Amino acid sequence: MPKAIVVHAHGGPEVLSYEDVAAAEPGKGEVRVRNHAVGLNFIDVYFRTGLYPAPNGLPFTPGNEGAGEVVAVGAGVEDLRPGDRVAYAGTLGAYAEERLIAADRLVRTPEAISDEQAAAMMLKGMTAEYLLCRTFKVKPGDTILYHAAAGGVGLIVGQWAKHLGATVIGTASTPEKIALARAHGYDHVIDYTREDFVERVREITGGRMCDVVYDSVGKDTFPASLDCLRPMGMFVSFGQSSGPIPPFNLAILSQKGSLFATRPTLFTYVAERANLESAAANLFSVVASGAVKIEINQRYALEDAAKAHADLEGRKTTGTSILLP
Ligand SMILES: NC(=O)c1ccc[n+]([C@@H]2O[C@H](COP(=O)([O-])OP(=O)(O)OC[C@H]3O[C@@H](n4cnc5c(N)ncnc54)[C@H](OP(=O)(O)O)[C@@H]3O)[C@@H](O)[C@H]2O)c1
Repeated sequence: MPKAIVVHAHGGPEVLSYEDVAAAEPGKGEVRVRNHAVGLNFIDVYFRTGLYPAPNGLPFTPGNEGAGEVVAVGAGVEDLRPGDRVAYAGTLGAYAEERLIAADRLVRTPEAISDEQAAAMMLKGMTAEYLLCRTFKVKPGDTILYHAAAGGVGLIVGQWAKHLGATVIGTASTPEKIALARAHGYDHVIDYTREDFVERVREITGGRMCDVVYDSVGKDTFPASLDCLRPMGMFVSFGQSSGPIPPFNLAILSQKGSLFATRPTLFTYVAERANLESAAANLFSVVASGAVKIEINQRYALEDAAKAHADLEGRKTTGTSILLP
C-alpha cells in the first residue's frame, strides 16, 4: 500500500501521521500521480491547524504542490498517459507517495525542469506570477515592498520583480536571511524585528513610499504596511504567517491616502484552465530564461513532515523546501 501523511485531528506538527493508505483507481477525468517530490508551503500549516478547513473535513491528506509521473488515467482522460511527467498546485492531498487528482489541474513539466524544482515552485512561483503580473502589474520604475523576503515565495518574488525593473524592498528577521534576500533581487532589506520598517521605507524611497505592498505576515505587520504606501497605492494581503489581521474599518484606506486593498488567493487566479496554463507557462519561461532561479534549501523525507512543519513555523527555513516520498 502507498504511504501518505494523514491528519485525523487539527493541531501541532505532531498530528501529521505517516500511514498506509488505500490506492483507489482514478475515476472519470482523474489521474493517479506518483509524486517524486512534494512542495512545503505555509498554507499546509493553516490546513493542519484548521485555520483553513479541508473541503471534505477530517481526516485528510495535506499538501498543495507536487510533481511526478502519471501512473494511471481514468475514463475520459485523453491527453495524458502513464509515464508523462506532470506538476500541480492547489489541490489538497499532495503529502503522499501516490495521489488522485483531476486531470485538468495538471500541467506537463518541461524537460529542462526537474521534478524537485517543479514541486518546489508550482504553488510559490504561480503565486509570484499572479501577485506581480496580475494583482498589481509591476513595471519598470515601481517600488515594491515584500515582507518575509527570504521565504519560499519571497526569494522568487525578489528575482522576478527585479527582472520586471522594479526597485525591490524586502523585510526579514536575521542577518543571514537579509543576505540571502539581497542575493535574490532585493535592493534593500530591512530587519523588521529590530528596525521600524515604515521609517526605513521612508528613508529608502526619499518619502515617496511604495506603489504596492505584498504582505503575507498579517497580524504583526498590519496596519504599519499601509503606511508604506504612496497615495492610491495597493495593499495586497495574501497570507498570515504571524496570525490573521483583525477586522478593520474600510475608512482607514481613505485616511491613509485613498488606498486600494485586496485579499487574493492563487486558487481563484488559476481556477480557469486557461489561467492555469498561462500562469504555469509564464513561470516556466522566467525560470528557463535564468531570470528566476529555483533553489531548494531544505529537503525532508515525507515521513518527516512534522519536522518540516516545525521548521517552517519556527522561521528556520529559507527559500523553498520539499518533501521526498
Ligand atoms: N494567497 C495566496 O495565494 C498564497 C499563496 C502562497 C503563499 N501564500 C502565503 O505567503 C506566505 C509565504 O508562504 P511560504 O510558503 O513561502 O512561507 P515562507 O515565507 O517560507 O515562511 C513564512 C515566513 O514568514 C515570516 N514570519 C513572520 N512572522 C512569522 C511568525 N510569527 N511565524 C512564522 N513565520 C513568520 C518568516 O520569515 P522571517 O523570519 O524573515 O520573518 C517565515 O520564514 C504565507 O503566509 C502563505 O500563506 C499565500
